[in-house]
Amino acid sequence: MESECSYKKKSNDDKSYFRSYSDIGIHEEMIGDRVRTSTYRLAILKNYDHIRGKVVLDVGAGTEQAKLVCKENGVSDRIMVITGKVEGGLMLPGSASLFMAPITDCDVLERLLFWDDMTEVYDVSMSCIKAYASRCISSHVSVQQVEPQSIMAHAAEVCTFDLQKMSRKLENVKGSFCFDCFGDVEIHGFATWFEVKFNHEIILSTSPYKLPTHWLQCVLYTEKAHNVKQGTLITGCLQLNPSSHYHRFLDIALQYTIDEAKYLQKYTMDDFI
Ligand SMILES: C[S@@+](CC[C@H](N)C(=O)[O-])C[C@H]1O[C@@H](n2cnc3c(N)ncnc32)[C@H](O)[C@@H]1O
Repeated sequence: MESECSYKKKSNDDKSYFRSYSDIGIHEEMIGDRVRTSTYRLAILKNYDHIRGKVVLDVGAGTEQAKLVCKENGVSDRIMVITGKVEGGLMLPGSASLFMAPITDCDVLERLLFWDDMTEVYDVSMSCIKAYASRCISSHVSVQQVEPQSIMAHAAEVCTFDLQKMSRKLENVKGSFCFDCFGDVEIHGFATWFEVKFNHEIILSTSPYKLPTHWLQCVLYTEKAHNVKQGTLITGCLQLNPSSHYHRFLDIALQYTIDEAKYLQKYTMDDFI
């Protein structure tokens, strides 16, 4: 049974999650993301046969402004806005997949070279900080747009979830990968992104090869840069767990092997991404 303490923690966590949607900024970002919003729209339109004339429940319509939007569009007689928390129900989209690929990244190199530059700027040598900087950069998930040309091997589909069959808690998600590198380059980390599938072949993808969305991509920088050649294999496993601090965040463990050397990196995700 859930203890009173963990129940209180969860309810506080839920409050901060719902608060994160109370400002207009996140709604500008989501609704302004045309790839996302148009894909949802298309999924609804293509499911016309199942939806037309039925009672439809849209869970998580957003802010309490939904009533005003209904009024402004003259649909208040057809749409009832219920303010409250919902649990359970049918899940759309039907499946979700996580992808991953190794990347080269000049920006992270520049961030590290910054410390070398201090000799010239202030006549104080600070290169010794580079190792610490590298550890900091490689301990958090970095949300950013990844340029397709920085991807250095074909992406691997690390795991897929059938969202209709999911149990409540997503724990200890594991997936493996094997990358065959395109050519001579320095690898600085791995990009990850997701794809969700609706029926009628509708796909919402956050791939760096597709139109950008507000989700961008996530980069897991490695503490060490790795020189690879064409055909170098990078194998390993990615493991995701809900953070012990906050169940909506993730703790990530990345194990990988390059040229028979094994590495383990741990990352925390400490912001809504
Ligand atoms: C990702 S936003 C989507 C907002 C809007 N539907 C859109 O697509 O632009 C998710 C919304 O669902 C709400 N939400 C999440 N879980 C909920 C629950 N269990 N019951 C009611 N609302 C929920 C959040 O507060 C947030 O406003």
